[in-house]
Amino acid sequence: MDKDVGTEAAIRRWDRHAEKFSEGFDEQGDLHREVFLNPTLFDLMGAVDNKKILDAGCGNGYLSRMIANQGGSVAAVDYSKQMLTIAKRNTNSELDIHYHHGNCESLDFLPNRSFDIIISNMVIQDLANYRQAFKEMHRLLKDEGAFIFSILHPCFITPNSGWVKTDTGEKLYWKVDNYFYEGTYEQAIPVDQEEKILYFHRTLTSYIEALTETGFILERLVEPKPSEEILVNHPSFREDFRCADFMVFKLRKNKFD
Ligand SMILES: C[S@@+](CC[C@H](N)C(=O)[O-])C[C@H]1O[C@@H](n2cnc3c(N)ncnc32)[C@H](O)[C@@H]1O
Repeated sequence: MDKDVGTEAAIRRWDRHAEKFSEGFDEQGDLHREVFLNPTLFDLMGAVDNKKILDAGCGNGYLSRMIANQGGSVAAVDYSKQMLTIAKRNTNSELDIHYHHGNCESLDFLPNRSFDIIISNMVIQDLANYRQAFKEMHRLLKDEGAFIFSILHPCFITPNSGWVKTDTGEKLYWKVDNYFYEGTYEQAIPVDQEEKILYFHRTLTSYIEALTETGFILERLVEPKPSEEILVNHPSFREDFRCADFMVFKLRKNKFD
């Protein structure tokens, strides 16, 4: 664990792993996005048609395309040029999506109060200065706009967390460690590469304090679980009833901010 690894190293790693990361994606994202995240995100967004939406940390752009296909007008930002290349390659030019290269911590090229909704799927745990990013999201929202973001669950996905197994591989329980450590550590992906994707761990308290200090009102907090229909086709997801992988926040910008 190295607290001082910063943005440049994170970008380099995203650029290097962009193609590999995107291999398992189709137009619904990967299986975890399809099962856990997309249903929650679209439920929290509500109707997106004719809404101006920022996809902050768009990656390969699957979510931007899902939103634009439902009538949303999307600005999509990522700081990895490789990710943007993949996103543009996969995007039909008729879709209302404008891709931008930029860091979500400072998006000066976008004017104040531009968006009805800002969505950020699995990005906030990957960026170095989350407090600055929250301020930027607040600046970019229209009055009463919604900021919705998902992260790896900060209480369960911590440095050195993971299943404790028997000698024969049976999963006994999920182990959590180093919860109060705040800083960088490497994710397990890609499994076959030495230099892995970086993750910035913070406690749940830090997230909530930073959001409320920014001026956001917490409207919903969701810990997504698989549906019964999903379990019919993917029974292995039953283990996700033992602990949560993801946490999704819905914040509201106050009318008078
Ligand atoms: C885990 S991927 C998620 C991508 C996409 N939202 C999705 O759900 O597939 C994280 C993405 O966030 C981008 N990212 C991380 N920090 C960023 C920042 N500060 N500004 C812009 N993009 C960032 C990375 O380049 C990467 O494409």
